[in-house]
Amino acid sequence: MSTQALLQSLYDTPEQDIIQRIRALRAELGSKVLILGHHYQREEVIGFADITGDSLKLAQQAAETDAPYIIFCGVHFMAETADILTTDKQVVILPDPAAGCSMADMADLPQVSEAWQQLGEIVDVDNEITPVTYINSTAALKSFCGQHGGIVCTSSNCSRILEWSWNQRSKVLFFPDQHLGRNTALHMGMDDSEMLLWNPLQPMGGNSPEAIQAARLILWKGFCSVHQLFQPQHVERMRDEHPGIQVLAHPECSHEVCDLVDFMGSTEAIIRFVEAAPTGQSFAIGTELNLVNRLRLRFPDKPIFFLSPIVCMCSTMFRTDPQHLCASLEAISGNGVFNQVKVPDKDKHHAKIALERMLSLA
Ligand code: 13P
Ligand code: SF4
Repeated sequence: MSTQALLQSLYDTPEQDIIQRIRALRAELGSKVLILGHHYQREEVIGFADITGDSLKLAQQAAETDAPYIIFCGVHFMAETADILTTDKQVVILPDPAAGCSMADMADLPQVSEAWQQLGEIVDVDNEITPVTYINSTAALKSFCGQHGGIVCTSSNCSRILEWSWNQRSKVLFFPDQHLGRNTALHMGMDDSEMLLWNPLQPMGGNSPEAIQAARLILWKGFCSVHQLFQPQHVERMRDEHPGIQVLAHPECSHEVCDLVDFMGSTEAIIRFVEAAPTGQSFAIGTELNLVNRLRLRFPDKPIFFLSPIVCMCSTMFRTDPQHLCASLEAISGNGVFNQVKVPDKDKHHAKIALERMLSLA
C-alpha cells in the first residue's frame, strides 16, 4: 500500500484503534525502534515517546542510541540533527515531513554565506568571528559553522557556547534567533550597545562599517513566531491578577518579556523549575501551549497559567499525530521506511564537527 493510501486508511480508522495498533507495534518492534519526543508534542503522541526532552537532551540521546530506527516526534531540524549524530546504518524518521520550523527557515546557506562575505569586507572574518548557529537551523548551516571554526548551541547551553565562542575569536555571528542570542548575552552581562542586528534583506545587514567593527555580537534578524506572541503586558497582567505568581519564559521570547520574568530557561529548565517549587506556588509560563498544559495536569497542586491570553501553539510540532506515528511504525514492521530524513553527505561531515563541539561542552 502506498504511504498516502496507508495514511488515508488510518484517518478512516477510529483513534482508539490506532492507539491500540501503536501499542501492539511498539511491543512487536521492541528495541529496534527508539521514539524521541520533544516537549511541545501533543499529548496523544508524547505518551509513546521512550524519551522526552528539550532539543539538547534529544540530540544527546540520538548520539548515544544504537537503535536501528529512530522515530523523531519533533520538527525537521531535530531529525536532521539525529541523522548527523547517528551512524549510516541507523534510520531517522520524521513521521510528518511537513513538520518544519519557521524560525529555522529564516536563515539559509546562501544568505549566511552572503553575510559572511559582506562582513569580510570590514573585518577578518576567519580570525575575528565565530559563527554560532542555534540548533533550530538547517544541516547546511551547521555545516557552515563546522567549516568556519564555529559551533551549535541550544536554548539550554547558550551561555556556555557563547563563552567558548568569545574565547576563540572576538566577535560572534549568531543565527537564526536574535532573541536567544540577545537574552543570553544580556544575562551574561553584555551591554546592548555591543550587539547589532543583521537584517539579511539589507546590504551590510543594515549596519555601518563602524558599527560592525565595534560589535561583539551580531544577531541575525530571525525569531520564533510562537514565542514572539508573548508580550510584556501579559507579565504585568498576570502579576496584577495573581499576587505571588512566578513568571517563567523561554529565551525565544523577546527581551522586553524576558527582562520582566522571574526565570528564563529552555523547556527542560522550565520543567525542572516547576518540579522544584513547593506546593501552592503559582506560575505563568511563556512557552508552547502543549507543554504548559502538560505541566498543569502534572502539578495540580501548583496553579499554572498560560502567560498569553491568546493561543501560542507550534503548528508544525502539532503535525505529528497518532496516524503518522502509526504509519511510521507500520512501515518498519513491514521492513519499509516512511519519511526518512537523510542529510546529504556534503553537509554531514562539518555539521557533525559543529554538533560534537557543542556536545563536548554541554
Ligand atoms: P528547547 O527544546 O531547547 O527548549 O527549544 C524549544 C524549541 O523551540 C524547539 O524548537
Ligand atoms: Fe520553531 Fe518556534 Fe516551533 Fe520551536 S516553537 S519549532 S522555534 S516555530
